[in-house]
Amino acid sequence: MNATPRSDRTRVAIVGAGPAGLMLSHLLALAGIDNVVIDVRERADIETTLRAGILEQGTVDLMTTTGVGDRLLAEGKRHEGIAIRSRGASRRIDFPALTGRAVHLYPQHEVLKDLIAARLAAGGDLRFGVRDVGVQDVMSESPSVRFTEADGTRVVLSCAVVAGCDGSQGVCRTAVPRDRRTDYFHAYPHGWFGILAEAPTSADELVYTHSDRGFALISSRTPTVQRMYFQCDPAEDPSGWDDARIWAELRARVDGDDFVLREGPIVQRGVIPMRSYVIDPMSHGRLFLAGDAAHTVPPTGAKGLNLAVADVAVLCQALERLFHQGSTELLDSYGRTAADRVWRAQHFSWWMTSMLHTDPGADAFDLRRQLGEIDQITDSVAGSTYLAEAYTGWPIVRTNPDSVVAGAIATTAGRTP
Ligand code: PHB
Repeated sequence: MNATPRSDRTRVAIVGAGPAGLMLSHLLALAGIDNVVIDVRERADIETTLRAGILEQGTVDLMTTTGVGDRLLAEGKRHEGIAIRSRGASRRIDFPALTGRAVHLYPQHEVLKDLIAARLAAGGDLRFGVRDVGVQDVMSESPSVRFTEADGTRVVLSCAVVAGCDGSQGVCRTAVPRDRRTDYFHAYPHGWFGILAEAPTSADELVYTHSDRGFALISSRTPTVQRMYFQCDPAEDPSGWDDARIWAELRARVDGDDFVLREGPIVQRGVIPMRSYVIDPMSHGRLFLAGDAAHTVPPTGAKGLNLAVADVAVLCQALERLFHQGSTELLDSYGRTAADRVWRAQHFSWWMTSMLHTDPGADAFDLRRQLGEIDQITDSVAGSTYLAEAYTGWPIVRTNPDSVVAGAIATTAGRTP
């Protein structure tokens, strides 16, 4: 091993090539701001790991107006509503009628493929498969990230700013000292049993189901591959479930009226934990956290990727102000601006979860009360508008009118703080 690490230099060192890191790299490059992205995972892992698939209107707008939306528009599917299902019948929430907005179903790993391809085509510096990542000197104006490259070369990457985009298990979050941060954490007493099945589509739009056996969600990937989930114990062992048992459980939850669950071979299965987390503040010196490194939401509201994109849209505007106008003003307020949306999303995700899932200790009163809540939401314009607004996503905040993201979000009803 070399005694002296190689010295590299960039303006923004981005730790993590997930939605936050890659989108930030893409936006910064459009703004002419030099950056390097590192990730401990291999490119193939990043491009194949299965995650959720709903893109808010603002995420779609930002991708299309910045040149990474072609495949999303061609292969993704615009969804103008969802069904809320209970007592064997579905009621539809019509997004455009209530909000003028919609969402797209386009899996997260496809977004990541598009961002990686765009960065590589533009000559971007992405380094996969690195190890021993550490962040240092973030309280100075010349922080750095050290790591070992896939070929064993040790590197110290000096920069002006570190963007911590390495998810909930990454090193960046832990670089904020315990006595300088508050961790807000909530564990739910549920998990989601997720399957991927080779089957035809059961419904044109997502079906969020309440039943006395617990929640179920019918989603889709392609006309021949379906994604479905049902609420389970977070400690459930998926290997104890054969295909017949899984289909019986899903059928028992979604059964009713004329709904037909179309079945087929289950090709992937797993249990997803449900938790909420927010770190406060979202920055420490020259380290700025974005996406899952700063917060986690349960999957019910489909907010994870969208929050990551919204964070970096705000962070990019702040970094443009720093590098183009020499002011740290927007970086100083980054965490507060981003957290405003994060807490709305936490509430929405918690609320959807509480309305549709059965708590382990739930009694008859709790179930009837949930049905009352579902009726209020689905039968009232006021109730369904809240759901539609939150699901399709709040506008991305515009803080810097000179930013490359300003054009994309100017088309939405942006709020200037
Ligand atoms: C998915 O398609 O994987 C999906 C969709 C909506 C959610 C969660 C997951 O709320």
